[in-house]
Amino acid sequence: MRPQTVQEMASAAEVIRRNLDGHSNTVYVNTRRLTHINMTAFNCIAEILSSACKADRQRKIVIVTSSVIAWSAPLFKTLASDEPNLLVEIYDSAFYPGQTFVEDESFIPILRTQTKMTWRHEREILGRHGLRDGLAIADICCGIGDFATLIKRHFNPTRLLALDHSRKSLEYARRVAADFGLTSIEYTYGDASQMLLADNQFDFVTCRHSLQIFDRPDVLLRELYRICKPGGRVYITNEKNSHCLGEPHSESIRWTYDQVARLFSHFDMDVEMGPKSRRLLTDAGFDAIQVETFMVTNLDGDPRDFANMIEAWENVYAGQMAVRRGDPPDFIRRFRQGFKDHVLAALHPKGYAGWPIWAASGRKPY
Ligand SMILES: C[S@@+](CC[C@H](N)C(=O)[O-])C[C@H]1O[C@@H](n2cnc3c(N)ncnc32)[C@H](O)[C@@H]1O
Repeated sequence: MRPQTVQEMASAAEVIRRNLDGHSNTVYVNTRRLTHINMTAFNCIAEILSSACKADRQRKIVIVTSSVIAWSAPLFKTLASDEPNLLVEIYDSAFYPGQTFVEDESFIPILRTQTKMTWRHEREILGRHGLRDGLAIADICCGIGDFATLIKRHFNPTRLLALDHSRKSLEYARRVAADFGLTSIEYTYGDASQMLLADNQFDFVTCRHSLQIFDRPDVLLRELYRICKPGGRVYITNEKNSHCLGEPHSESIRWTYDQVARLFSHFDMDVEMGPKSRRLLTDAGFDAIQVETFMVTNLDGDPRDFANMIEAWENVYAGQMAVRRGDPPDFIRRFRQGFKDHVLAALHPKGYAGWPIWAASGRKPY
């Protein structure tokens, strides 16, 4: 909204006025896609909202903004400070149930060790799913950016955008990129379920371990599809946590990972999503779907890496999530024991420990 004169706003102003007049109780004004505004437009909207507030003090008007658009909430909040029945809601401050866990700093060690473990496999797998040198690539829900850094180094993309909604993870990612002198990765703060990116821009779109933590994976997939070029591919990875395994102490390990799946589901996250990838991609409209599984194990490299990953899981899953759910101490003790047994299996000279992952991709039809 960048009109030169207020007359240019006439028809938009009329729509807003008509809708406000037509509703009582609570009216929501959604500004999540309003990326740019000039003072002419803002003053015009402000005047309409203020008059509507004064005309009916019983009616609440809620402006829905997004933290992704930096100017939006502060500007509307200034306006709301003068009108008791005008409220501002930042839609993405609590927009999916597991948000506080995955956007927290304590998640960083998990993401670091996970990517270190999975890259050995994915480096080969990605080629089978169509990744090659010289493509425009987007890594959506990029976390701390380690995967983007690896893509940059090994696949020399023409463009590489990495988007996430965790400010802490993005700060970390930018720091790492600066330390390694990588200047061309476009780290972007954004909401993957409503991205401010144009349609049909990327040849290859990745979204790893993230559909499973969002309560509306279909919405995310729709966005991944939208930004992918026709003929391009969207690549996703997801887990099935209850299939994590280890020897010795397989029973204790199995019990704990069954509980992990239930714990995540309590927070509306589906860490059993891996085998559902084919259905999800099909329902989202992709064709030429490919699905494969791989098992990250303690034999892949240094078993200590595997053990570090499990310890990081234990810290967040037992130390934070189970506590938040209100689990009793006896449960948490048993829950922790399965992680400890998984670590033991990883470090045992005759032990075996595994973490299965589903990698899948689909082509956006021409
Ligand atoms: C389990 S982590 C995976 C991160 C990374 N892909 C990796 O494999 O290391 C999930 C990530 O999704 C991000 N995320 C979740 N919902 C998001 C959304 N709606 N928009 C952008 N990022 C989101 C979280 O901040 C977190 O960094």
